[in-house]
Amino acid sequence: MDERDYTSLYQRAVAGPAPQQTLTQSEAWLGRAQRVIPGCAQTFSKSFRQYVRGVSPVFLERGKGCRVWDVDGNEYIDYVQGLLPNILGYAHDEVNAAVTAQIARGHSFSLPHPVEVQLAERLQRFVPCAEMVRFGKNGSDATAGAVRAARAFTGRERIACCGYHGWQDWYIGSTTRHRGVPGAVRALTHPFPYNNLPALEKLLTQHNGEFAAVILEPVNFAMPAPDYLQEVKALARCNGALLIFDEICTGFHLGLGGAQKRFGVTPDLACLGKAMGNGFPISAILGRADVMQIFDDIFVSFTFGGEVSAMAAAMKVLDVLEQTDALARMEASGRCLQDGFNALAKLAGLHPRFECVGFPAWSLLKFRDATGQDSFLERSLWQQEVVKRGLLQLVTHNLTAAHDTTAIEETLRAYAATFKTLAGWLADPNPARFLEGPMIEPVFRVRG
Ligand SMILES: Cc1ncc(COP(=O)(O)O)c(C=O)c1O
Repeated sequence: MDERDYTSLYQRAVAGPAPQQTLTQSEAWLGRAQRVIPGCAQTFSKSFRQYVRGVSPVFLERGKGCRVWDVDGNEYIDYVQGLLPNILGYAHDEVNAAVTAQIARGHSFSLPHPVEVQLAERLQRFVPCAEMVRFGKNGSDATAGAVRAARAFTGRERIACCGYHGWQDWYIGSTTRHRGVPGAVRALTHPFPYNNLPALEKLLTQHNGEFAAVILEPVNFAMPAPDYLQEVKALARCNGALLIFDEICTGFHLGLGGAQKRFGVTPDLACLGKAMGNGFPISAILGRADVMQIFDDIFVSFTFGGEVSAMAAAMKVLDVLEQTDALARMEASGRCLQDGFNALAKLAGLHPRFECVGFPAWSLLKFRDATGQDSFLERSLWQQEVVKRGLLQLVTHNLTAAHDTTAIEETLRAYAATFKTLAGWLADPNPARFLEGPMIEPVFRVRG
Protein backbone atom coordinates (compact mmCIF):
# COMPACT_ATOMS: atom_id res chain seq x y z
CA MET A 1 0.00 0.00 0.00
CA ASP A 2 1.21 3.54 -0.64
CA GLU A 3 0.18 7.07 0.36
CA ARG A 4 -2.65 7.16 -2.22
CA ASP A 5 -4.14 3.94 -0.83
CA TYR A 6 -4.08 5.29 2.73
CA THR A 7 -5.67 8.56 1.58
CA SER A 8 -8.47 6.75 -0.18
CA LEU A 9 -8.92 4.43 2.84
CA TYR A 10 -9.20 7.46 5.10
CA GLN A 11 -11.57 9.28 2.77
CA ARG A 12 -13.90 6.28 2.59
CA ALA A 13 -13.88 5.74 6.38
CA VAL A 14 -16.98 6.74 8.32
CA ALA A 15 -16.52 8.67 11.58
CA GLY A 16 -18.51 7.82 14.69
CA PRO A 17 -18.56 5.25 17.47
CA ALA A 18 -18.80 1.65 16.32
CA PRO A 19 -21.80 -0.25 17.68
CA GLN A 20 -21.28 -2.24 20.88
CA GLN A 21 -21.16 -5.99 20.56
CA THR A 22 -22.84 -8.53 22.80
CA LEU A 23 -20.64 -9.42 25.77
CA THR A 24 -23.11 -11.07 28.14
CA GLN A 25 -21.15 -14.33 28.45
CA SER A 26 -17.87 -12.47 29.08
CA GLU A 27 -19.53 -10.45 31.85
CA ALA A 28 -21.08 -13.60 33.34
CA TRP A 29 -17.68 -15.34 33.44
CA LEU A 30 -16.13 -12.24 34.97
CA GLY A 31 -18.78 -12.33 37.71
CA ARG A 32 -17.89 -15.96 38.48
CA ALA A 33 -14.14 -15.23 38.32
CA GLN A 34 -14.47 -12.36 40.78
CA ARG A 35 -15.63 -14.86 43.40
CA VAL A 36 -12.78 -17.38 42.94
CA ILE A 37 -9.75 -15.75 41.25
CA PRO A 38 -8.06 -12.69 42.77
CA GLY A 39 -7.61 -10.17 39.95
CA CYS A 40 -9.63 -12.49 37.68
CA ALA A 41 -6.55 -13.36 35.58
CA GLN A 42 -3.16 -15.02 36.06
CA THR A 43 -1.24 -12.18 34.40
CA PHE A 44 -1.83 -8.46 34.94
CA SER A 45 -1.67 -7.82 31.20
CA LYS A 46 -4.60 -10.18 30.61
CA SER A 47 -6.77 -8.43 33.20
CA PHE A 48 -10.08 -6.81 32.26
CA ARG A 49 -8.49 -3.60 33.62
CA GLN A 50 -6.22 -3.48 30.54
CA TYR A 51 -9.24 -3.00 28.28
CA VAL A 52 -12.28 -0.71 28.38
CA ARG A 53 -14.82 -2.70 30.36
CA GLY A 54 -18.24 -3.05 28.80
CA VAL A 55 -17.03 -2.85 25.18
CA SER A 56 -14.18 -5.40 25.37
CA PRO A 57 -14.28 -9.16 25.76
CA VAL A 58 -13.01 -10.54 29.06
CA PHE A 59 -12.81 -14.23 28.23
CA LEU A 60 -11.66 -15.89 25.02
CA GLU A 61 -12.82 -19.32 24.01
CA ARG A 62 -10.74 -20.30 20.98
CA GLY A 63 -8.16 -19.13 18.47
CA LYS A 64 -6.89 -20.09 15.02
CA GLY A 65 -4.12 -18.35 13.14
CA CYS A 66 -4.25 -14.64 13.81
CA ARG A 67 -7.88 -14.70 14.99
CA VAL A 68 -9.66 -15.39 18.28
CA TRP A 69 -13.29 -15.82 19.29
CA ASP A 70 -14.62 -14.68 22.66
CA VAL A 71 -17.12 -16.57 24.82
CA ASP A 72 -19.97 -14.65 23.14
CA GLY A 73 -18.82 -15.77 19.68
CA ASN A 74 -17.39 -12.39 18.60
CA GLU A 75 -14.36 -12.66 16.30
CA TYR A 76 -11.20 -10.55 16.58
CA ILE A 77 -7.88 -10.22 14.79
CA ASP A 78 -5.53 -10.68 17.73
CA TYR A 79 -2.49 -8.41 18.06
CA VAL A 80 -1.68 -9.63 21.57
CA GLN A 81 -1.15 -13.30 20.70
CA GLY A 82 -0.98 -14.52 24.28
CA LEU A 83 1.47 -11.65 25.11
CA LEU A 84 3.82 -12.55 22.22
CA PRO A 85 4.33 -16.36 22.27
CA ASN A 86 2.17 -17.36 19.29
CA ILE A 87 4.75 -16.49 16.64
CA LEU A 88 3.10 -18.84 14.13
CA GLY A 89 -0.44 -18.03 15.29
CA TYR A 90 -2.96 -19.98 17.35
CA ALA A 91 -3.40 -23.72 16.97
CA HIS A 92 -0.64 -24.14 14.39
CA ASP A 93 -1.29 -27.53 12.80
CA GLU A 94 2.34 -28.72 12.58
CA VAL A 95 3.28 -27.54 16.06
CA ASN A 96 0.17 -29.10 17.54
CA ALA A 97 0.87 -32.36 15.68
CA ALA A 98 4.43 -32.45 17.07
CA VAL A 99 3.12 -31.88 20.59
CA THR A 100 0.36 -34.46 20.21
CA ALA A 101 2.88 -37.02 18.98
CA GLN A 102 5.09 -36.34 21.98
CA ILE A 103 2.20 -36.48 24.43
CA ALA A 104 1.24 -39.88 23.05
CA ARG A 105 4.73 -41.11 24.00
CA GLY A 106 4.84 -39.40 27.43
CA HIS A 107 6.14 -35.95 28.23
CA SER A 108 7.03 -35.65 31.93
CA PHE A 109 9.75 -38.26 32.26
CA SER A 110 11.74 -39.56 35.22
CA LEU A 111 15.06 -39.06 33.41
CA PRO A 112 16.20 -36.58 30.74
CA HIS A 113 14.92 -37.07 27.18
CA PRO A 114 17.03 -36.74 23.99
CA VAL A 115 14.97 -33.78 22.76
CA GLU A 116 16.56 -31.68 25.53
CA VAL A 117 19.95 -32.29 23.93
CA GLN A 118 18.65 -31.80 20.39
CA LEU A 119 17.03 -28.48 21.25
CA ALA A 120 20.13 -27.26 23.10
CA GLU A 121 22.34 -28.24 20.13
CA ARG A 122 20.03 -26.44 17.77
CA LEU A 123 20.01 -23.21 19.80
CA GLN A 124 23.79 -23.48 20.06
CA ARG A 125 23.98 -23.34 16.26
CA PHE A 126 22.27 -20.01 15.77
CA VAL A 127 22.33 -18.00 19.02
CA PRO A 128 25.84 -16.49 19.18
CA CYS A 129 26.34 -16.69 22.97
CA ALA A 130 24.89 -20.20 23.32
CA GLU A 131 27.76 -22.50 24.19
CA MET A 132 25.51 -24.28 26.70
CA VAL A 133 21.79 -24.14 27.45
CA ARG A 134 19.42 -24.77 30.38
CA PHE A 135 15.65 -24.83 30.03
CA GLY A 136 12.77 -23.47 32.06
CA LYS A 137 9.10 -22.78 31.55
CA ASN A 138 8.59 -19.05 32.05
CA GLY A 139 10.74 -16.11 31.08
CA SER A 140 11.04 -15.42 34.81
CA ASP A 141 12.67 -18.83 35.32
CA ALA A 142 15.31 -17.83 32.79
CA THR A 143 16.03 -14.34 34.12
CA ALA A 144 16.05 -15.48 37.78
CA GLY A 145 18.31 -18.42 36.87
CA ALA A 146 20.69 -16.21 34.91
CA VAL A 147 20.91 -13.71 37.75
CA ARG A 148 21.59 -16.46 40.28
CA ALA A 149 24.27 -17.92 38.02
CA ALA A 150 25.91 -14.51 37.65
CA ARG A 151 25.89 -13.98 41.42
CA ALA A 152 27.39 -17.41 42.03
CA PHE A 153 29.99 -17.02 39.28
CA THR A 154 31.20 -13.57 40.35
CA GLY A 155 30.67 -13.94 44.11
CA ARG A 156 28.90 -10.55 44.02
CA GLU A 157 25.32 -9.55 44.82
CA ARG A 158 24.27 -6.32 43.10
CA ILE A 159 22.42 -6.36 39.78
CA ALA A 160 22.01 -3.46 37.33
CA CYS A 161 18.86 -3.88 35.22
CA CYS A 162 17.05 -2.12 32.41
CA GLY A 163 13.61 -3.13 31.18
CA TYR A 164 11.06 -5.60 32.55
CA HIS A 165 12.45 -8.98 33.63
CA GLY A 166 9.63 -10.93 35.26
CA TRP A 167 7.89 -11.55 38.56
CA GLN A 168 10.68 -12.90 40.78
CA ASP A 169 11.86 -11.01 43.90
CA TRP A 170 15.25 -9.99 42.51
CA TYR A 171 13.59 -7.89 39.78
CA ILE A 172 10.05 -6.99 40.82
CA GLY A 173 11.42 -5.57 44.08
CA SER A 174 12.85 -2.72 42.01
CA THR A 175 9.41 -1.67 40.72
CA THR A 176 6.38 0.02 42.26
CA ARG A 177 4.77 -3.43 42.69
CA HIS A 178 7.32 -4.48 45.33
CA ARG A 179 5.00 -5.41 48.22
CA GLY A 180 6.08 -8.74 49.67
CA VAL A 181 9.71 -8.43 48.57
CA PRO A 182 12.17 -8.06 51.49
CA GLY A 183 13.97 -4.72 51.65
CA ALA A 184 17.33 -6.49 51.73
CA VAL A 185 16.58 -8.05 48.33
CA ARG A 186 15.22 -4.81 46.88
CA ALA A 187 18.38 -2.94 47.85
CA LEU A 188 20.48 -5.16 45.57
CA THR A 189 18.75 -4.37 42.26
CA HIS A 190 19.48 -1.06 40.56
CA PRO A 191 17.50 0.01 37.48
CA PHE A 192 19.32 2.14 34.90
CA PRO A 193 17.92 4.04 31.88
CA TYR A 194 18.37 2.71 28.33
CA ASN A 195 20.71 4.44 25.89
CA ASN A 196 22.37 6.42 28.71
CA LEU A 197 25.94 5.24 29.20
CA PRO A 198 26.97 7.88 31.76
CA ALA A 199 24.08 6.77 34.02
CA LEU A 200 25.24 3.15 33.89
CA GLU A 201 28.85 4.14 34.41
CA LYS A 202 27.89 6.24 37.44
CA LEU A 203 25.87 3.38 38.90
CA LEU A 204 28.66 0.86 38.47
CA THR A 205 31.27 3.15 40.02
CA GLN A 206 28.96 4.05 42.93
CA HIS A 207 29.22 0.43 44.07
CA ASN A 208 32.56 -0.38 42.52
CA GLY A 209 33.34 -4.10 42.36
CA GLU A 210 29.91 -5.11 43.73
CA PHE A 211 27.91 -5.81 40.57
CA ALA A 212 27.41 -9.44 39.54
CA ALA A 213 25.60 -8.57 36.31
CA VAL A 214 24.25 -5.93 34.01
CA ILE A 215 21.01 -7.28 32.58
CA LEU A 216 19.01 -5.50 29.90
CA GLU A 217 16.66 -6.00 27.01
CA PRO A 218 19.21 -5.30 24.26
CA VAL A 219 16.49 -3.43 22.42
CA ASN A 220 12.76 -3.07 22.57
CA PHE A 221 11.08 -0.14 20.87
CA ALA A 222 13.85 2.48 20.87
CA MET A 223 16.87 1.63 18.75
CA PRO A 224 20.20 1.42 20.57
CA ALA A 225 22.39 4.46 19.97
CA PRO A 226 25.44 3.68 17.79
CA ASP A 227 27.83 1.43 19.77
CA TYR A 228 25.59 1.56 22.85
CA LEU A 229 25.45 -2.21 23.30
CA GLN A 230 29.20 -2.59 22.68
CA GLU A 231 29.86 0.12 25.28
CA VAL A 232 27.54 -1.53 27.82
CA LYS A 233 29.47 -4.74 27.30
CA ALA A 234 32.78 -2.93 27.77
CA LEU A 235 31.53 -1.22 30.95
CA ALA A 236 30.33 -4.52 32.40
CA ARG A 237 33.62 -6.19 31.51
CA CYS A 238 35.67 -3.37 33.00
CA ASN A 239 33.68 -3.64 36.25
CA GLY A 240 33.98 -7.42 36.44
CA ALA A 241 30.22 -7.90 35.95
CA LEU A 242 28.62 -10.33 33.51
CA LEU A 243 26.47 -9.03 30.66
CA ILE A 244 23.05 -10.69 30.38
CA PHE A 245 20.74 -10.00 27.45
CA ASP A 246 17.07 -10.53 28.25
CA GLU A 247 15.87 -11.69 24.83
CA ILE A 248 12.53 -13.01 26.08
CA CYS A 249 10.79 -10.70 23.58
CA THR A 250 13.49 -10.13 20.96
CA GLY A 251 14.28 -13.83 20.69
CA PHE A 252 12.87 -14.95 17.33
CA HIS A 253 10.75 -11.83 16.60
CA LEU A 254 14.02 -10.15 15.60
CA GLY A 255 15.36 -13.25 13.89
CA LEU A 256 16.63 -16.64 14.97
CA GLY A 257 19.82 -15.26 16.50
CA GLY A 258 17.90 -12.56 18.39
CA ALA A 259 19.10 -9.01 18.97
CA GLN A 260 22.63 -10.22 19.80
CA LYS A 261 23.02 -11.47 16.23
CA ARG A 262 21.33 -8.48 14.66
CA PHE A 263 23.45 -5.94 16.55
CA GLY A 264 26.62 -8.03 16.63
CA VAL A 265 27.14 -7.96 20.41
CA THR A 266 27.51 -11.28 22.20
CA PRO A 267 26.57 -11.26 25.91
CA ASP A 268 27.89 -13.68 28.54
CA LEU A 269 24.38 -15.03 29.12
CA ALA A 270 21.02 -14.60 27.42
CA CYS A 271 17.43 -15.50 28.24
CA LEU A 272 14.81 -16.72 25.76
CA GLY A 273 11.13 -17.50 26.33
CA LYS A 274 7.80 -16.35 24.87
CA ALA A 275 7.94 -17.31 21.16
CA MET A 276 10.12 -20.42 21.58
CA GLY A 277 7.24 -22.88 21.76
CA ASN A 278 4.47 -21.02 19.88
CA GLY A 279 2.53 -20.75 23.14
CA PHE A 280 3.72 -23.94 24.82
CA PRO A 281 5.61 -23.02 27.98
CA ILE A 282 9.34 -23.06 27.49
CA SER A 283 12.23 -20.71 28.22
CA ALA A 284 16.01 -20.98 28.16
CA ILE A 285 19.20 -19.61 29.65
CA LEU A 286 22.04 -19.70 27.15
CA GLY A 287 25.65 -18.65 27.50
CA ARG A 288 29.35 -19.02 27.96
CA ALA A 289 30.30 -22.57 28.90
CA ASP A 290 32.45 -21.59 31.89
CA VAL A 291 29.58 -19.57 33.37
CA MET A 292 26.90 -22.11 32.46
CA GLN A 293 28.84 -24.89 34.23
CA ILE A 294 27.86 -23.23 37.50
CA PHE A 295 24.34 -24.66 37.07
CA ASP A 296 25.87 -27.95 38.13
CA ASP A 297 26.38 -26.37 41.52
CA ILE A 298 23.66 -23.75 42.14
CA PHE A 299 20.04 -24.75 42.70
CA VAL A 300 18.01 -24.03 39.57
CA SER A 301 15.98 -27.20 39.53
CA PHE A 302 12.24 -27.77 39.24
CA THR A 303 9.79 -30.53 38.38
CA PHE A 304 8.68 -29.27 34.98
CA GLY A 305 12.05 -27.89 33.81
CA GLY A 306 12.54 -30.95 31.63
CA GLU A 307 8.93 -31.37 30.47
CA VAL A 308 9.29 -32.18 26.81
CA SER A 309 5.98 -31.49 25.04
CA ALA A 310 6.97 -27.81 24.94
CA MET A 311 10.40 -28.83 23.65
CA ALA A 312 8.75 -30.79 20.85
CA ALA A 313 6.81 -27.60 20.09
CA ALA A 314 10.04 -25.57 20.09
CA MET A 315 11.72 -28.00 17.67
CA LYS A 316 8.81 -27.61 15.26
CA VAL A 317 8.76 -23.80 15.66
CA LEU A 318 12.44 -23.78 14.72
CA ASP A 319 11.76 -26.02 11.71
CA VAL A 320 9.17 -23.59 10.44
CA LEU A 321 11.23 -20.48 11.15
CA GLU A 322 14.34 -21.97 9.56
CA GLN A 323 12.72 -23.56 6.53
CA THR A 324 9.98 -21.14 5.50
CA ASP A 325 9.60 -17.41 4.89
CA ALA A 326 7.57 -17.01 8.11
CA LEU A 327 9.85 -14.33 9.60
CA ALA A 328 9.99 -12.40 6.32
CA ARG A 329 6.19 -12.46 6.05
CA MET A 330 5.84 -11.21 9.63
CA GLU A 331 8.21 -8.40 8.83
CA ALA A 332 6.31 -7.46 5.65
CA SER A 333 2.88 -7.51 7.34
CA GLY A 334 4.24 -5.62 10.32
CA ARG A 335 5.77 -2.96 8.09
CA CYS A 336 2.49 -2.48 6.27
CA LEU A 337 0.65 -2.04 9.60
CA GLN A 338 3.24 0.31 11.00
CA ASP A 339 3.32 2.47 7.86
CA GLY A 340 -0.47 2.37 7.66
CA PHE A 341 -0.94 3.40 11.29
CA ASN A 342 1.43 6.35 10.92
CA ALA A 343 0.06 7.43 7.54
CA LEU A 344 -3.54 7.34 8.80
CA ALA A 345 -2.56 9.19 11.99
CA LYS A 346 -1.10 11.93 9.79
CA LEU A 347 -4.23 12.12 7.67
CA ALA A 348 -6.25 12.53 10.89
CA GLY A 349 -3.90 15.27 12.11
CA LEU A 350 -2.96 13.05 15.07
CA HIS A 351 0.68 12.24 14.29
CA PRO A 352 2.99 12.06 16.25
CA ARG A 353 0.44 12.16 19.08
CA PHE A 354 -0.50 8.68 17.87
CA GLU A 355 2.60 6.94 16.62
CA CYS A 356 3.80 3.42 15.85
CA VAL A 357 7.49 2.86 16.62
CA GLY A 358 9.84 -0.12 16.83
CA PHE A 359 10.43 -3.18 14.68
CA PRO A 360 7.83 -4.23 12.10
CA ALA A 361 7.28 -7.67 13.65
CA TRP A 362 6.96 -6.21 17.16
CA SER A 363 6.02 -2.55 17.25
CA LEU A 364 4.69 -0.19 19.91
CA LEU A 365 1.73 2.16 19.67
CA LYS A 366 2.28 5.46 21.44
CA PHE A 367 -0.77 7.35 22.68
CA ARG A 368 -0.02 10.89 23.83
CA ASP A 369 -2.07 13.85 25.00
CA ALA A 370 -1.88 17.29 23.40
CA THR A 371 1.21 18.11 25.50
CA GLY A 372 3.06 15.00 24.29
CA GLN A 373 2.72 13.00 27.53
CA ASP A 374 1.77 9.30 27.40
CA SER A 375 -1.97 9.20 27.98
CA PHE A 376 -4.34 6.53 29.22
CA LEU A 377 -7.33 8.52 27.95
CA GLU A 378 -6.09 8.48 24.35
CA ARG A 379 -5.14 4.81 24.70
CA SER A 380 -8.55 3.92 26.16
CA LEU A 381 -10.47 5.75 23.43
CA TRP A 382 -8.36 4.00 20.79
CA GLN A 383 -8.75 0.52 22.29
CA GLN A 384 -12.48 1.08 22.78
CA GLU A 385 -13.02 1.87 19.13
CA VAL A 386 -10.73 -0.78 17.64
CA VAL A 387 -12.07 -3.61 19.79
CA LYS A 388 -15.62 -2.86 18.67
CA ARG A 389 -14.29 -3.03 15.11
CA GLY A 390 -12.86 -6.49 15.69
CA LEU A 391 -9.28 -5.92 16.82
CA LEU A 392 -7.92 -7.28 20.10
CA GLN A 393 -5.03 -5.02 20.99
CA LEU A 394 -2.98 -3.72 23.91
CA VAL A 395 -0.22 -1.28 22.96
CA THR A 396 1.83 -3.42 20.61
CA HIS A 397 1.54 -5.12 17.25
CA ASN A 398 2.65 -8.68 18.09
CA LEU A 399 2.87 -10.08 14.60
CA THR A 400 2.60 -13.75 13.74
CA ALA A 401 3.24 -15.57 10.51
CA ALA A 402 -0.55 -16.02 10.37
CA HIS A 403 -1.36 -12.30 9.99
CA ASP A 404 -2.14 -12.42 6.29
CA THR A 405 -3.00 -9.69 3.79
CA THR A 406 -6.72 -10.01 4.47
CA ALA A 407 -6.17 -9.44 8.19
CA ILE A 408 -3.87 -6.49 7.61
CA GLU A 409 -6.32 -4.84 5.20
CA GLU A 410 -9.19 -5.40 7.64
CA THR A 411 -7.07 -3.87 10.40
CA LEU A 412 -6.20 -0.79 8.35
CA ARG A 413 -9.87 -0.24 7.51
CA ALA A 414 -10.66 -0.34 11.25
CA TYR A 415 -7.74 2.04 11.93
CA ALA A 416 -8.99 4.51 9.29
CA ALA A 417 -12.47 4.63 10.87
CA THR A 418 -11.02 4.90 14.37
CA PHE A 419 -8.65 7.72 13.45
CA LYS A 420 -11.44 9.63 11.71
CA THR A 421 -13.61 9.23 14.82
CA LEU A 422 -10.86 10.24 17.24
CA ALA A 423 -9.90 13.28 15.16
CA GLY A 424 -13.35 14.68 16.03
CA TRP A 425 -13.45 13.51 19.63
CA LEU A 426 -10.01 14.83 20.54
CA ALA A 427 -10.96 18.28 19.26
CA ASP A 428 -13.75 18.30 21.88
CA PRO A 429 -13.02 20.17 25.15
CA ASN A 430 -13.89 17.01 27.09
CA PRO A 431 -12.96 13.88 25.08
CA ALA A 432 -13.40 11.69 28.20
CA ARG A 433 -17.16 11.95 27.67
CA PHE A 434 -16.81 9.60 24.69
CA LEU A 435 -15.50 6.78 26.89
CA GLU A 436 -18.04 3.98 27.11
CA GLY A 437 -16.47 2.34 30.19
CA PRO A 438 -13.80 2.87 32.85
CA MET A 439 -10.40 4.05 31.69
CA ILE A 440 -7.59 1.50 31.39
CA GLU A 441 -5.38 1.30 34.51
CA PRO A 442 -1.56 1.15 34.50
CA VAL A 443 -0.02 -2.11 35.80
CA PHE A 444 2.81 -0.17 37.45
CA ARG A 445 2.11 3.08 39.27
CA VAL A 446 4.22 5.99 38.06
CA ARG A 447 6.79 6.79 40.75
CA GLY A 448 5.80 10.00 42.53
C1 LIG B 1 11.66 -8.77 28.50
C2 LIG B 1 10.94 -9.73 29.40
N1 LIG B 1 11.67 -10.44 30.28
C3 LIG B 1 11.09 -11.34 31.10
C4 LIG B 1 9.73 -11.53 31.10
C5 LIG B 1 9.11 -12.52 32.03
O1 LIG B 1 8.61 -13.59 31.31
P1 LIG B 1 7.43 -14.48 31.92
O2 LIG B 1 6.23 -13.61 32.05
O3 LIG B 1 7.27 -15.57 30.89
O4 LIG B 1 7.89 -15.02 33.23
C6 LIG B 1 8.93 -10.80 30.20
C7 LIG B 1 7.47 -10.97 30.18
O5 LIG B 1 6.73 -10.21 29.65
C8 LIG B 1 9.55 -9.87 29.34
O6 LIG B 1 8.84 -9.13 28.49
